Amino acid sequence: SDFFARPKILAGKKVVVTAGPTRERIDPVRFLTNFSSGKMGYAMAQAAAEMGAETILISGPVSLPVPSGVRRISVESAEDMLNAVKAEYASADVVIKTAAVADYRPITVEAQKMKKKEGGAAIELERTVDILQTLGQEKSHQLLIGFAAETNDVAHYAKGKLVRKNADYIIANDVSEAQAGFESDTNRVTVYGKDDFEYSFEMMPKDELARRLLQMIVEREALHDR
Ligand code: CTP
Ligand code: CA
Repeated sequence: SDFFARPKILAGKKVVVTAGPTRERIDPVRFLTNFSSGKMGYAMAQAAAEMGAETILISGPVSLPVPSGVRRISVESAEDMLNAVKAEYASADVVIKTAAVADYRPITVEAQKMKKKEGGAAIELERTVDILQTLGQEKSHQLLIGFAAETNDVAHYAKGKLVRKNADYIIANDVSEAQAGFESDTNRVTVYGKDDFEYSFEMMPKDELARRLLQMIVEREALHDR
């Protein structure tokens, strides 16, 4: 491995990465979630640690090993993730929001298992807090990197998220595409930055992509000189 040969361009920096899905409980045996595998977020955390950053990985429920040199904080719901990220935010230099946070949660969590009845059923939902948007509103010195999962009009939606969430970069992937997105080991993304920055990477393994993404952003932002 060329692990030790890579320059530690993030030495002295603290990088917080969120990864995986969140789980929003319905009752003691059921929850709402999504197809996020956590692979891209874990790859981002591994890349940050390899570059010498103090790396905190705030992870929803996934079955992946903790990358070496990374401290993992396990969370379940969007609310848990928000609280965990907020606790690390003031001291963070870079926050990378790879997590697929649930947009809605049940308004009430039943204390007992819901029993089936005749006919259909409905669960009333409410919005979760947008973690990235909250971080964007409270941003001081931090560099904020979001991800966007889109099935259509990728550029339009990704650029909208960049502005709305006050992020420095949005890394967009087309999850309708084969071999990109959730369970895949490969991914193909386009990066959108302020000042109309736009750069598309080739399809490649997620670990390689994570290194290339971080390296590009560190160099563009001259993070190693800050
Ligand atoms: N995000 C977040 N908190 C939420 C929802 C999303 O922090 N409650 C973050 C994600 O971690 C990601 C970015 O926002 O970095 C974009 O997530 P995405 O689901 O693509 O966008 P949304 O703003 O939720 O819009 P929509 O799902 O309607 O496309
Ligand atoms: Ca969403």
